Amino acid sequence: MDKIKELTKGKAKSLFSTADNEKLVMHFSDDTSAFDGKKKEALLGKGAVNNQFNAFIMDHLAENGVETHHIEVLNSNDSLVWSLKMFPIECVIRNRASGSICRRLGTEDGLILENPLFEFFLKDDDLGDPLINDEHIISFGWATKEQIDEMKKLTYKVNSILTELFIKSNLILVDFKVEFGVCSQGKILLADEFTPDGCRLWDSETLKKMDKDRFRQGLGDVVESYHQVADRLGMNIIVD
Ligand code: ADP
Ligand code: TMP
Ligand code: ASP
Repeated sequence: MDKIKELTKGKAKSLFSTADNEKLVMHFSDDTSAFDGKKKEALLGKGAVNNQFNAFIMDHLAENGVETHHIEVLNSNDSLVWSLKMFPIECVIRNRASGSICRRLGTEDGLILENPLFEFFLKDDDLGDPLINDEHIISFGWATKEQIDEMKKLTYKVNSILTELFIKSNLILVDFKVEFGVCSQGKILLADEFTPDGCRLWDSETLKKMDKDRFRQGLGDVVESYHQVADRLGMNIIVD
């Protein structure tokens, strides 16, 4: 399906209209951003690996009962998705403490949590994506109680499915962020992306960081690490 018009250009992806107004083309660019857009760089080949990585994960989640917006891969950097009304919210699950929770609570990097910890963040770069709770979401009308419960249930399910998938490839899923939207039939679908840009993945023996923390912390070999993760999972990434 052809791209007609660029509707939105985000920090890492663009959305294009298509001849079918229920479907969009999602273009994964090489643009890489961190700290709410304060650090930016184009990393050659990142868009292609992320597009195909995302498709593999979305297909795996669908096979395991999580409905997603992903329809099909169109080419190296583009996928066809269902057009959704997005919640302005990010759903995070942490299996170990890392990143912002360590700064917030003074926790050591890598601390194993007693239970997977769910957190909501407001999607607003200008405000630095603040931590919010269910009460904020209901009071501001960003989602209903039923929608909150559904997003939490689905995010925990994603965590169980992917923790098991990654551990088989000797990778620890430390934490991740997902987004949801509502389709024309009113159903909540997993949207946006699941790639090493939006999660933390550590080698289970050495605890080497294999995700976007390599970019955030200037560790180098960012795209190479994403390819190594894809290889371990048995993906066949095509680079044009
Ligand atoms: P950001 O908005 O943080 O800069 P991206 O560059 O990843 O992020 O842009 C992708 C945008 O597309 C995000 O705002 C995301 O919420 C939105 N989005 C993801 N999936 C869908 C979908 N199926 N329908 C509509 N919008 C979507
Ligand atoms: P944090 O430690 O910065 O709160 O992030 C937790 C996880 O969620 C980490 O894997 C990165 C991901 N994440 C994003 O990808 N984008 C975001 O805007 C936020 C808040 C988190
Ligand atoms: N995804 C956010 C950004 O691009 C936050 C981050 O990854 O650090 O700024």
